[in-house]
Amino acid sequence: MPGTGPVPAKVMVIGEAPGEEENWVGQPFVGRSGEELNRLLASAGIDRSRAYLSNVIKHWPGPGNPTPNIKMVRACTPWLLREIEIVNPDIIITVGATAAKVLVATANLRKDHGVGRVVEVCGRERVLYPMYHPAEGMHAPKLLPVIRSDFLNIGTIARSPLVEIIDNLVL
Ligand code: URA
Repeated sequence: MPGTGPVPAKVMVIGEAPGEEENWVGQPFVGRSGEELNRLLASAGIDRSRAYLSNVIKHWPGPGNPTPNIKMVRACTPWLLREIEIVNPDIIITVGATAAKVLVATANLRKDHGVGRVVEVCGRERVLYPMYHPAEGMHAPKLLPVIRSDFLNIGTIARSPLVEIIDNLVL
């Protein structure tokens, strides 16, 4: 399943894998975590319809949504990278550890969540925000305020031009 949204887009959101509902509808983030994601993006001043949403894994992994294994990630990554090239976002928001690690192998969400960094992805610098997955907040309610405040913080800089964003980042 490819992503959905405008092309090119200033903001691209990358999740882990479509769930069962997404599988039937044929679009990422249409289930419960999609609803939470919409609210989180709105709190950051990002209208979902203006962002391009996609996943690392391009198919539903099956009942129980098991965490994708390395073989699945390797098989799907070339498609994701091609999508990034075409969408050419200035800002990439990854939700969940799988997406963060595909772009930065050493990503550690506990340490890095919510902190924007300039990284080279697909041949140019982009601002990457590694975020916890909204579904993690639904399973571990103590994470919810952390996730919400991480998204609120993006809003303070996501509306500026990229140059300003880079200047404002803690590198
Ligand atoms: N739906 C998606 O499309 N991706 C996720 O990571 C979770 C739910």
